Amino acid sequence: MSVAVFPEPLDLASFAEDLRSGLLTQGQRVLPSKYLYDEVGSTLFEVICVLPEYGLTRADTRLLLRHAPSWVSRLPADTCVAELGSGSSKKTRLILEAMARRQETEFFPIDISHAALTQCARELGDIPNLTVSGVHMEYLQGLSEVKARRRQRGPLLVLFLGSTIGNFDRESGERFLRSVREHLSPGDLMLLSTDLVKSEAELLLAYDDAAGVTAAFNKNVLARINRELDANFSLRHFDHEARWNPQARRVEMHLRARSDMTIQIRRAQLDLTMSCGETIKTEDSYKFERTELPLLAQRSGFSCQEQWVDEQWAFAQSLLFAQ
Ligand code: AVJ
Repeated sequence: MSVAVFPEPLDLASFAEDLRSGLLTQGQRVLPSKYLYDEVGSTLFEVICVLPEYGLTRADTRLLLRHAPSWVSRLPADTCVAELGSGSSKKTRLILEAMARRQETEFFPIDISHAALTQCARELGDIPNLTVSGVHMEYLQGLSEVKARRRQRGPLLVLFLGSTIGNFDRESGERFLRSVREHLSPGDLMLLSTDLVKSEAELLLAYDDAAGVTAAFNKNVLARINRELDANFSLRHFDHEARWNPQARRVEMHLRARSDMTIQIRRAQLDLTMSCGETIKTEDSYKFERTELPLLAQRSGFSCQEQWVDEQWAFAQSLLFAQ
């Protein structure tokens, strides 16, 4: 992911720059999806994860509950664990408890959010025989740091859960996996979670739930721009929209203007005019076919050792070995 840790002022400068390049275009206006996750957005995402329409998180958890004890027990005892994007520690706990039951285990959550790392250390701190060391860096840099800091010499197990890889377009996702592989050694492993293609109706409900939580999550990015960059978006004049793009096999989230409008984003020195019906795309969420994952793994320098698919919600976990 192209997120770096910058001191606050430069951070705002790159936020402003991303807005200028995404919003002042002739084609589809876009906002990078990473801006959805300020404190409000991250909290709304936690709520999304428990919505009945959003089956991804529960499927991920079920697969871990059902299969992790067995494959984890077959890993060398001195395996250490890293996680890309520390996410909900509830899922990770299932793996870490199984590992730490056998031997002292080191766990390195890697996240650019300091709050997420603190939360993670707090939530997993009670597991006996587990050392949690947060790495406040972007993913790839964090992996190098883990390699340098870890004390146990066994393989490294990298967790990439929640179908976060779905935020990359296909080409960047493959490039990202290849870069991860370059930071690993033969015999290291990666557990990769991916949401699978399913019916359009199910997909659209998952990204446009009845209670309107996803709509609030989406619109909050405009509120964030108002707060941080002194802008005057009127959230009431935008509609949340989820679209299935069958050619690209992705769900897109858009914000659709309900009227002609002009918006000032003062700290980005940006004046924006939008016409009624025009949209800003805020997120792509790519979906996969089960069978394409071993091929994707292969092209990135991994071999897919095992794969599990949830029975209630089409969702896969693939256990990849660095070759
Ligand atoms: C966290 C990127 C995996 O794409 O499903 C949830 C984010 N967006 N609802 C996803 C999200 C709208 C989520 N990821």
